[in-house]
Parts: sequence; C-alpha cells; structure tokens
Amino acid sequence: MAQPVSPPTDPTRERTDALIRRIVDRIASGTTDESLGPMVESVADFLSVERHAKERERLFLDMPQVVGFAGEVARPGQFITAEAMGIPIVVTRAPDGRLHALVNACAHRGARVAQGHGTLAGRRLRCGFHGWTFELDGRLASRPSDRCFEPIAAGDTRCDLTRLPVSDRSGLVVVGLRPEMPQARVDGHLAELEPELTGLGLEQAKTLDVQRYEVAANWKLVSMLSYESYHFAALHRETVATMFESHAIADAFGRHSRWAFALKGTDALAKADPASWPASFPGAISHQLFPGTVLITTWEVAQLIRSEPGPTPGTSVVHTANVYFDEAKREALIPNVALGTRAFEEEDLPAAIQTQQGLAAGRKQLFAGANEPIVQFWLRQWREAVDG
Ligand code: FES
Ligand SMILES: [Fe+2]
Repeated sequence: MAQPVSPPTDPTRERTDALIRRIVDRIASGTTDESLGPMVESVADFLSVERHAKERERLFLDMPQVVGFAGEVARPGQFITAEAMGIPIVVTRAPDGRLHALVNACAHRGARVAQGHGTLAGRRLRCGFHGWTFELDGRLASRPSDRCFEPIAAGDTRCDLTRLPVSDRSGLVVVGLRPEMPQARVDGHLAELEPELTGLGLEQAKTLDVQRYEVAANWKLVSMLSYESYHFAALHRETVATMFESHAIADAFGRHSRWAFALKGTDALAKADPASWPASFPGAISHQLFPGTVLITTWEVAQLIRSEPGPTPGTSVVHTANVYFDEAKREALIPNVALGTRAFEEEDLPAAIQTQQGLAAGRKQLFAGANEPIVQFWLRQWREAVDG
C-alpha cells in the first residue's frame, strides 16, 4: 500500500484516526455502513418532465452551487472560469483580497471576458471581441472608442459585469446563480460540512485538468455513480477495484453527506500501533455537496464532479476538475488521475447512459440497497428539496 508521507490534504489527526478506526473495523468484519433496509424509488418521479423543471429551478438556480477550488483564486489577480446551468461565470480575487463572482458576459454584447484560469495580466478582465476591460470587481474600466458610447459613461452600472454572490469559506468556491440570492445563503450553504472541509487544504489546490461532458442520462443517475462502492467489484473490476476496498463508512451533514473507502492493504493497520498510522486517510473520502456536486479527496489529489440537469430529463451536463497540492509530485500523480478518468469515462458514464435507457424503457421502480446508505440518504434529500 502506498503510504502517504506528507499530508497536504489532511484533516485533523483526531478526525483521521477516527475514520481509520471505523474503516479498519469494516474491512476486518467484511461489512459496510448500512441503512436499516432497502429503498424503492418511483422511476416515473425520477424521470418526470415536471419534476425535472422543478429540479432545475429549486435545486440549481435557487440553490448555491459549488463551482471550484478556493486555491485557484487564492492570490490577488487570480481567476477561474466555470459554467453552471449554462451560465458562464468568472471568479476573481481583487487586489484588496476580496473574492468576486461575475457573469462571464461582456457588458457591450455578451462575449466572454475571461477563459480558463490563471493570473490576469494588468489585473483586469478583457473582452476578446471589441476590447472592453473591467476591474476585478466587475466595474467597466475602459473601452476602445469611448466617445462612441457617450453619454453612456463608465460608472453607469449598466456597463458593469453582473455580480453574483460568492463565498469561499469552506475552501471551495460557492456561487449563487441569481444575483438576488442573499449572501448569507451562499456563505451558509456548506455550513454543516465546513469543519470537515476546512482541514483538507483545498485552499492550496492547483488545477491538473478540467473536463465537460454532455451525457445522455439524467443528472441524478450520473450523481449516483459517486454515492456507493457496491459497484466497484463488477463495473470497476480492472480499475478502481484493483486499488480500493469496497467496504465503506458513511455520515450525514445536514443535506450533505460523506462516505469513505480505503486502499487495499489498509487492514494491516488493525495490528499496528495507532501512533504509526498514516497522517492522512489511506483511501478516498467522497463528499456529496447537495444537490449535484461530489468532492473526492485522497492524500494527494482531489476531484470535483458536478452533475447538472440538461434541457431534458434524459440529459445532463457534467463538469470534472482534478487538482493536486504538491508541485513536486505533479508528474507522478498523472498516471493515477488518468486511471480515475478512464474509469469515469469508460465505465461509469456508459453505465449511467445504460441505466437511463433501461429505466426509460418502462421500468416502474429502482432500488437502493441497505449497503447503499448514501444513495438512500441523497434520494430522501432530493425528494424533500424538490417537493419543497
Ligand atoms: S462584446 Fe465585449 S467588447 Fe464587444
Ligand atoms: Fe464508479
């Protein structure tokens, strides 16, 4: 087993030891954290056009969304771009240290004012279409042939970029997709999970790669790929299952939840002195950030998977981002990250597409077993949030 040496993504030692103790027990007894029994869900509700419209409104447009890692916008002048529910977003760190989220649509005619991520030359956003520039808080800074727009002057708020509420309290960038969303809702979105997240070092994250997928499957089916390890032995026999045990531990935090599974070989820790245990959890910790984001962390990398409803119930848009923490290890991490990406693209996503086709072909119900407690928990949160 690869033993984590330095723990850049380490929560407190006590938390880590408690998780290790639980997972070691689960592996030793050949069990997993379970709910009280199986759950039956209506496929009609799951794929309903009306509920899909409600999901888009209530769970995505009216609920704060996680769009990235705070570590990518840690220093003045840094920025990231993201897309959520088709809305292009740019998040900036201004010279005064404040974080801003803006709709990435130029005030002149709507083109993008930033692409990708990085540090802005001159600390201004610049539209590539006609060259209008904006301060990092969204105010218009300059425009070529300025006199041709008089008397619409700089300072007229119609010339500013649209501001969105944003928070990075948890080490993740959380944005409200509607400008009128109260800041307190965005600040408090991950409140219950915040103590767990703040120890993960997410504010030191650096991007390895990002991907966008349009998937012919309902967003819930894509999300649910990341809520259980029951599928490891069958679907990931040659990939994930060669590295990880499927025994898992699970916990709820408000509407959010977390489960964790260990690297093979972790059972050896049962006989070892706890003082010699690794400083980081020797496996993966998967956080479900309601409604559709998953944050998976290991001792050296983290991954964000954001699943959103597409235009129809049978479609979704999925964004993934892989980050790392230690520059010296960057090259060495690439093969493991590539293995995870391959499993996601060649095993998980095709399974989601199959399940969409299968359920839409007249299945009346789907099941979540007692050994899928996070799936069950999440389905209950989903139902409650949609029905309001
Ligand atoms: S659309 Fe941005 S400067 Fe014209
Ligand atoms: Fe999977």
